[in-house]
Amino acid sequence: MSKSITVAVARPIFPEVLVRLREHFTVVDNQGGQPWSTQSWAQCLQACDGVLTTMADPLNAGLLAGNTRLKVAANMAVGFNNFNLPELTALGIVATNTPDVLTETTADLGFALLMACARRMSESERYLREGLWSSWRYDFFAGAEVHGSTLGILGMGRIGQAVAKRASLGFGMQVLYHNRHPLPSETERVLKAQFVSRDELLERADHLMLVLPYSPDVHHTIGAQEIARMKAGSHLINIARGGLIDENALADALESGHLGGAALDVFENEPQVNPRLLAQKRIVMTPHTASSSLKTRLAMANLAADNLIDFFFKGSVRTPLNAEVLTRQTQ
Ligand code: GLV
Repeated sequence: MSKSITVAVARPIFPEVLVRLREHFTVVDNQGGQPWSTQSWAQCLQACDGVLTTMADPLNAGLLAGNTRLKVAANMAVGFNNFNLPELTALGIVATNTPDVLTETTADLGFALLMACARRMSESERYLREGLWSSWRYDFFAGAEVHGSTLGILGMGRIGQAVAKRASLGFGMQVLYHNRHPLPSETERVLKAQFVSRDELLERADHLMLVLPYSPDVHHTIGAQEIARMKAGSHLINIARGGLIDENALADALESGHLGGAALDVFENEPQVNPRLLAQKRIVMTPHTASSSLKTRLAMANLAADNLIDFFFKGSVRTPLNAEVLTRQTQ
């Protein structure tokens, strides 16, 4: 039966979440999975009251030109740099994301990437699969220590803190971090994490992990100068957004041997990967899957759906990014 409120679901999603949405809305879905062209996406948005997006689906005033129908956009991701939030706010569109439900799963992959690059796991597995393993050598794929080493975390929000917990409590690492604001001292004490300046973080970390939100202000925040400050032989891990790193500067540092390795879950032009990075043996790469356990992805999809359902049927949302729009609407 057709329902009066229409929502679009930008990409394939768990069938049970679609069923939930269909109980409430007329749903325009994209289970075929091919990303909408800019034009068809803009057209689809014209005909919708709400939308469920992923971090790969842009939403801004340009796409919404003249659209007065869209009221709410639920992003199935914690990061929301695909939204132009000031523009959505000005247009009176409520925006939401999916924090908390993915924190621990994302931290797990961050830690797995750290270990995989420090211990050269992708490189040695490729060697073995290629049938090149013929004898034992004392320095065979000798990597860097994880336990007892120093981890630098740039961006100490929920996910950064979950990584810190694994590092200090599980692996006896020294944890240094830099963030816009230091954490309360009690949280620092529990996590055994020490606030340092950005330069000190770069200079002291054996492994540097990026966990900060992306915005144009932090585009290429790790470039040639920052990499030059990093310790010789250290590792760079990114589970945040690709645009934080100047990928060519990273490729230079791996080619020169200044960095010991890197591990990337995110890339500047996803799903394209810079060919210079693909050519590096010392990079472990995953295709933006840090939150991808079945349980967590389902929780993210359900939270995005809850935000849409609550918005239209209760006048509230669970995880607002621009709560001021809702306040304005209820005044
Ligand atoms: C994934 O990258 C997310 O922001 O949730």
